[in-house]
Amino acid sequence: MSSEIKDNSSAQSSSAIQISRASEKPPKGSIIMSGMRSTSHIHIGNFFGAMKPWLDLQNEYMGYYGVMNWHGLTTKYKEPHEVMSFAREMYAEWIAWGLDHEKNVIFIQSEVPEHIELTMFFMMLTPMSWLERVPTWKDAEEEAKASDTHNLGRFMYPVLQAADIAVYRGTHVPIGQDQIPHLELSRDIIKRFNFLYGGNLPEPKPIFSSTPVLIGTDGRKMSKSYNNAFQLTQSPDEVSKTLRAMPTDPARVRRTDPGDPAKCPVYSFHKLYSQPEDLRWAEEGCKSAGIGCGDCKKRLGERINENMAKPFAAKQELLSNPEKLDSLIADGCARARKIAKQQLDQVKDWTGFKPSGDWV
Ligand code: TRP
Ligand code: SF4
Repeated sequence: MSSEIKDNSSAQSSSAIQISRASEKPPKGSIIMSGMRSTSHIHIGNFFGAMKPWLDLQNEYMGYYGVMNWHGLTTKYKEPHEVMSFAREMYAEWIAWGLDHEKNVIFIQSEVPEHIELTMFFMMLTPMSWLERVPTWKDAEEEAKASDTHNLGRFMYPVLQAADIAVYRGTHVPIGQDQIPHLELSRDIIKRFNFLYGGNLPEPKPIFSSTPVLIGTDGRKMSKSYNNAFQLTQSPDEVSKTLRAMPTDPARVRRTDPGDPAKCPVYSFHKLYSQPEDLRWAEEGCKSAGIGCGDCKKRLGERINENMAKPFAAKQELLSNPEKLDSLIADGCARARKIAKQQLDQVKDWTGFKPSGDWV
């Protein structure tokens, strides 16, 4: 694992986080489509849950990866500029971690208006009852009301997601387990579209990554809303600050008290970032009180910084070179628009929803 995160050019080597056996390897010629909403910095949970498989897939398949800022706006509509600045940073972050701009089409969703046009078609044929029973909506309704986001945009989030996939004829979608209901709905919408209009949009299949259960820096489940994750790229200072505040096994009150690594968030991060010899060192040292928690955190900090150094530098380089980043984004979006436009033309042919005279 450690060497995987360290070297962002090693995308094809085997990784600890394997693409799940449950989903078969996509056949040759499959089209991979995925994205993330741009509402915050990426943390390592997002990396393992979503992005790591992209790096593994990019050497074999055509891939479309979208910074989904319209999806971001569904909950952050009061801060559109923030969603946009996260979008730019996310783009830089992906490139810095080795998502290949040449091999893939990397774009920002709102720059490709065809997503919205296809969404309109999909909205017409999607019964409201399908959306009402999506668990992410059902479970979030109370929270949505409380946070002033019980809105139409959030309700139809999965319809837009179906269009994201279909507009590139995506056949396989690497996603986290939490996204399964969304993908099922995408398949249903696309199926109904094909049935109604005689289209041949592929019904997308999920690709899961068997994500390890990630514990947050405070010992709770890792979650954006708890603000308890390491960001994907952080400066060494920020890393040591986070480490200092991390709780350890409560049994280790004194330096001489032995501990149990299984009860310690520090150790769970060692498992992600450290090699077997360090793991053994931490485990034995912890159980025998041979090392202090300070030593253990210090070693972890070194490993995290080693892993992050290269992408961190690459990201800084991109952010400090706005013209370069902007031209990458412009190019990625233009390539996305070209493909999406072709698909939309075909959609208009299938549906017959196009000028009935020589208007254009
Ligand atoms: N819903 C996804 C998430 O929250 C983001 C997303 C939007 C997406 N459109 C997509 C993922 C299309 C895969 C395919 O992370
Ligand atoms: Fe956690 Fe390491 Fe301290 Fe053990 S020695 S409690 S694993 S920080």
